[in-house]
Amino acid sequence: MAQTIEQRISNLRARINNQKKAFRHKVKKQAFRFKPFSEKQKQVLTWWCPDSTVKDADGIIADGAIRSGKTLSMSLSYVLWAMNSFNQQNFGMAGKTIGSFRRNVLFWLKLMLASRGYKVVDHRSDNLLVISKGDTVNYFYIFGGKDERSQDLIQGITLAGMFFDEVALMPESFVNQATGRCSVEGSKFWFNCNPDSPQHWFKTKWIDQCEKKNLLYLHFTMDDNLSLSEKIKNRYRGMYVGVFFKRYILGLWCVAEGLVYSMFDPEKHVTSEHMTGAKEYIVSVDYGTVNPFSCGLWSFDGKNSIREQEVYYNSREKGRRVDDEEYYHMMDEMIGNHKVSYIIVDPSAASFIEVIKKHGKYIVKGANNDVLDGIRVVTTFLNKEMIKIHESCEDCISEFGLYCWDEESTEDAVIKENDHAMDDVRYYCYTFLRQRLRWKY
Ligand SMILES: Nc1ncnc2c1ncn2[C@@H]1O[C@H](COP(=O)(O)OP(=O)(O)OP(=O)(O)O)[C@@H](O)[C@H]1O
Ligand SMILES: [Mg+2]
Repeated sequence: MAQTIEQRISNLRARINNQKKAFRHKVKKQAFRFKPFSEKQKQVLTWWCPDSTVKDADGIIADGAIRSGKTLSMSLSYVLWAMNSFNQQNFGMAGKTIGSFRRNVLFWLKLMLASRGYKVVDHRSDNLLVISKGDTVNYFYIFGGKDERSQDLIQGITLAGMFFDEVALMPESFVNQATGRCSVEGSKFWFNCNPDSPQHWFKTKWIDQCEKKNLLYLHFTMDDNLSLSEKIKNRYRGMYVGVFFKRYILGLWCVAEGLVYSMFDPEKHVTSEHMTGAKEYIVSVDYGTVNPFSCGLWSFDGKNSIREQEVYYNSREKGRRVDDEEYYHMMDEMIGNHKVSYIIVDPSAASFIEVIKKHGKYIVKGANNDVLDGIRVVTTFLNKEMIKIHESCEDCISEFGLYCWDEESTEDAVIKENDHAMDDVRYYCYTFLRQRLRWKY
């Protein structure tokens, strides 16, 4: 007999529910698979234990290379220390943002704690973890150093410990606030980070003063993570160049100096050929009226990109200012018959974005303007020779040879000259290419 619609819906619901149950069961069973801990990780895991010679330190700092096993060992050790030393106390745990902490730290931490018999209840709306084992119960509040609400919330709380993951990415004011809340006897501070500039506040005020502050200091390299194969380590090594290699791979606090794109080599990166078989075309724009206007047409074949053509208009040199309509027509002429997926524009160029929208011919997107992350991504693509510049793009090629770090600045900054094509190249790489290639390379 044919089923009624209600019966079919009810059967379908039952099937979906069974699938959901099976999935939950699978996730629960998926305990964390530990590889042997390295000596450094063991130090992080045991420094506070009763038979340790350094147990009276007021905290620990671990800095160094990416993927070197700092977060994993420190987050686990922090909770084990808290649960072994206190009961019914509040603790703080912070990442750059609450979201990044949940993604990078909490996911693994929960698996590790579950495999050690701890019960973790996550009150997501309060960003509170209640962790218990036997009669011991402690409360762990999650904060985001860059989240404004976290800055307010941390003011009223009394803490027995504070763990900062990626501390160098947080504002100093948040770290001072949070450490100031640790008034319980026996409280300790736990910090980890990747290196930055030697003048960074965390280097000068915490690492350089760790003895005075009675803090333990450990330096990690990728060899301190025994779960990484040589192949994976080599892949990471190949991803970074220049100052980023020194910081993220060698783990050094070093100044960003000289040319930003010192790896740019005309032999490798300038081409006399246009791309054949491009899958997509994208335009990137850095807008300027007094400063130069720079705009590039990029071809993309699914892996590699070529800056095929450019418009670079310097009103000072030309002695004539140009309005948005005229810029639009220059860009439109450059695009010609190419089928452009979208145009990425400097997010502050509101009037130019409006002009593109008004013409209704192209889709326009605001660029992601995170300068340092963007530069890092461009260096990676240059290093892998995945972006090339057509020889006709002379202004872009010339800026690659001029764009410099500001060595006078106390934090990473570029000199804001010869940076117009450099900005539009960064918009292309960071807003388009990184997204397209995220899972592939
Ligand atoms: N003993 C271990 N057993 C299994 N996996 C491990 C072990 N130690 C580290 N890992 C894994 O190695 C990777 C890197 O570790 P972790 O995130 O702790 O490094 P990190 O130094 O904090 O890196 P970053 O500086 O990039 O944040 C993670 O995927 C982590 O789960
Ligand atoms: Mg980490």
